[in-house]
Amino acid sequence: MELRHLRYFVAVVEEQSFTKAAERLFIAQPPLSRQIQNLESELGISLFERGSRPLKTTQAGHFFYQHAVKILANAEEVKSMTKRIGMVERTVTMGFVGSLLYGLLSRIVYLYRQQQPHLKIELVEMTTMEQVKALKEGRIDVGFGRLRISDPALKRMLLREERLVLGTHASHPLSAHKEGVYLADVVDEKLFLYPNHTTPSFATQVQGLFAEYNLEPQHVRIVREIQLALGLVAAGEGVCIVPESARSIQLAHLNYIPILDESAVTPIFLTMRNMDESEDIMSLFDCIYQVYDLEAIRYDRNSF
Ligand code: BEZ
Repeated sequence: MELRHLRYFVAVVEEQSFTKAAERLFIAQPPLSRQIQNLESELGISLFERGSRPLKTTQAGHFFYQHAVKILANAEEVKSMTKRIGMVERTVTMGFVGSLLYGLLSRIVYLYRQQQPHLKIELVEMTTMEQVKALKEGRIDVGFGRLRISDPALKRMLLREERLVLGTHASHPLSAHKEGVYLADVVDEKLFLYPNHTTPSFATQVQGLFAEYNLEPQHVRIVREIQLALGLVAAGEGVCIVPESARSIQLAHLNYIPILDESAVTPIFLTMRNMDESEDIMSLFDCIYQVYDLEAIRYDRNSF
């Protein structure tokens, strides 16, 4: 006896007719009658009064009906409980480059936690190159980074392009240019870039940007991380170039000035495994859209 036999039997009892039960179950009537006959021969009893119209159950059939209904309800409950337990154990691990924490990463992840409370969400800071390896080895599910790195096993999507700004000390002459400066104004400054532990990196991206304008900064110092670059600027050591979202890092005497060159942007990419079409990643995209909508950030849904 299988669950489907119980389902067929319950439908016949409730519809009091083989024809109507067959319609409800979307099957033809002869196979339905055969299944009920098989059930009766397995049990060795009649479940229905012979010749009754509308169909009536025998006493044994009535007993069997009451228990069949409970068994089917239990089976449904077990199915949905098992799904729920399975969901509790699902984990989404995200790799991210540190500077994204000053942008929208934390808001997106917080919203994702609220909207997907059954998911275990883990964040791991790593470089874009480390993210590529970790994605291929299955250690993370998505990576957020700023570098355009391609790999045949991975899919990379441009989320948005963030403008770059110049960090200056309040006493620096460039601080007077509140409306903005051009990269050409910066080439002779002592310029702090980061990070210094890997290449390619954000530092190489910024140097590439200067090269695009046929410029070469003359006094570059590459430091460990963004906080160090900004701290040195606040100490009056020089200037630095950072993504606009770093404005949320406020230090005494530290100013942020727009960089006006059109290409002075840094992309934000989401990278995932080619074959991964899991619901969890789709709902992460939804959270990104929601935060972008709230922030009035323009994006191209088709590029996701
Ligand atoms: C953003 O700032 O646009 C962003 C940062 C991290 C993940 C996704 C988006």
